[in-house]
Amino acid sequence: MSSTHFDLVVIGGGPGGYIAAIRAAQLGKSVACVELESALGGVCLRVGCIPSKALLESSHMYEAAKHQFAGRGIKVASVELDLPAMMEHKAGVVKALTGGIDGIFKKRKITRLKGRARLDGPGRVTIEGKDNQSITAEYIILATGSSPATLPGIELDGDRVASSTEALAFTEVPKHLVVIGAGYIGLEMGTVWRRLGAEVTVLEYLDRILPGMDSQVATDALKIFKKQGLKFQLGCKVTGVTKTKSGVEVQIDGQPAVQGDRVLVSVGRKPNSQNLGLETVGVETDKRGFITVDPNFKTSAPGVYAVGDVIGGAMLAHKAEEEGVACVEYIFKGHGHVNYDVIPGVVYTDPEIATVGASEDQLKQKGVPYRKGQFPFLANARARASGQMDGYVKILAHEETDRILGVHIIGLHAGELIAEAAAAIEFGASSEDLARTCHAHPTLAEVTKEAALAVDGRALNI
Ligand code: NAI
Repeated sequence: MSSTHFDLVVIGGGPGGYIAAIRAAQLGKSVACVELESALGGVCLRVGCIPSKALLESSHMYEAAKHQFAGRGIKVASVELDLPAMMEHKAGVVKALTGGIDGIFKKRKITRLKGRARLDGPGRVTIEGKDNQSITAEYIILATGSSPATLPGIELDGDRVASSTEALAFTEVPKHLVVIGAGYIGLEMGTVWRRLGAEVTVLEYLDRILPGMDSQVATDALKIFKKQGLKFQLGCKVTGVTKTKSGVEVQIDGQPAVQGDRVLVSVGRKPNSQNLGLETVGVETDKRGFITVDPNFKTSAPGVYAVGDVIGGAMLAHKAEEEGVACVEYIFKGHGHVNYDVIPGVVYTDPEIATVGASEDQLKQKGVPYRKGQFPFLANARARASGQMDGYVKILAHEETDRILGVHIIGLHAGELIAEAAAAIEFGASSEDLARTCHAHPTLAEVTKEAALAVDGRALNI
């Protein structure tokens, strides 16, 4: 057993943890990052955002080759799915990106330790695994993330009763995939497997999809997904899953069961706060297991901080990254910054759905007076040329000050377009500011400018 002392030890090598480690190293601190898995990057890089995006892109290309090329004058003799090759490409993307973090760690002289870390009294971390040892630190950041949650009566079996991890790696296209939960994961994975040929039924407890998102956008998204062939059963409470000889049967409260050959359980995620030795230093959690922190990410134990999914809030990689940077800056510089009002959310379906700031529902609920500008992709030259004209940009601005309060986009590359809206809100822009900013022609971004003009009733190309 060797013992080494660091300025900062980060537990968890996901987007919250590895970014915190890099920021601390930039500030000249000695840093160790402990990660259980052999690859850095956390769920996002290994079995989440990145592999799912590789599959989204590939499945989109497959569908385009099958159904859209002919209409564009491209003849292909036959289009066949080679799922193992598609999965291999996905694995290559993940390997390149996780390896990239190793490279940055080496460059920044961050000590990377492999194994399961536990707090072991004030300032002490014990690692079990490849790098079995005990280390000490002035400061510790817990960035252990989250895992798929399930429902009472449903046990994830890593196979037919799948979480997102397995749904990213099915070895064949399911005939009928039943998805429980119409949130981010259910819709992203459901649309991937639909494009690859599966029948997909989404079961959702609420009477709408994408809870929390602007309800107009969610309603319009539902129509588009239905047009794409996804089936939805809303307002149904799933109570159990039984494995049958040929697949699975999903039980629903007060309604007939649904049969399929695989089921994806995507009903949210739970914090990884167990077996971390929190009790050895007095780190407190709330009832649901989220580590409680003050606005500077300090836990109830001196010198111990926490960021990312494990402290709750939006379970998004970029929110965790912001917190990782801010936490390190609070510790070593005395000040840091995360603007929770301007955290974009993107659902990577086709078309994409992206949102930042307040939804129309929230403004109505709070009684905030607002004006709304909306412009469709249908009236945009670039969208028309690309053949993908579903959706619109909707801008909500304060009735009196014209300050932009929220932007909601459904349409081609919405996830890229939302960055302009986030920057505008962050800088306190008015819709008039956006409307008077010159946007290149012909681009999809012109839809945002037109929506800003529409706030004042003066959209041009409609
Ligand atoms: P989610 O919280 O987005 O959606 C879960 C859905 O399951 C909800 O609509 C809920 O009403 C429904 N549900 C709960 N109990 C149910 C029951 N008994 N029967 C039927 N439906 C039920 O959770 P999801 O999709 O699992 O994602 C987990 C987290 O991962 C989210 O917080 C999300 O932010 C994050 N994520 C983000 C992505 C992105 O940024 N693109 C991609 C994937 C995940």
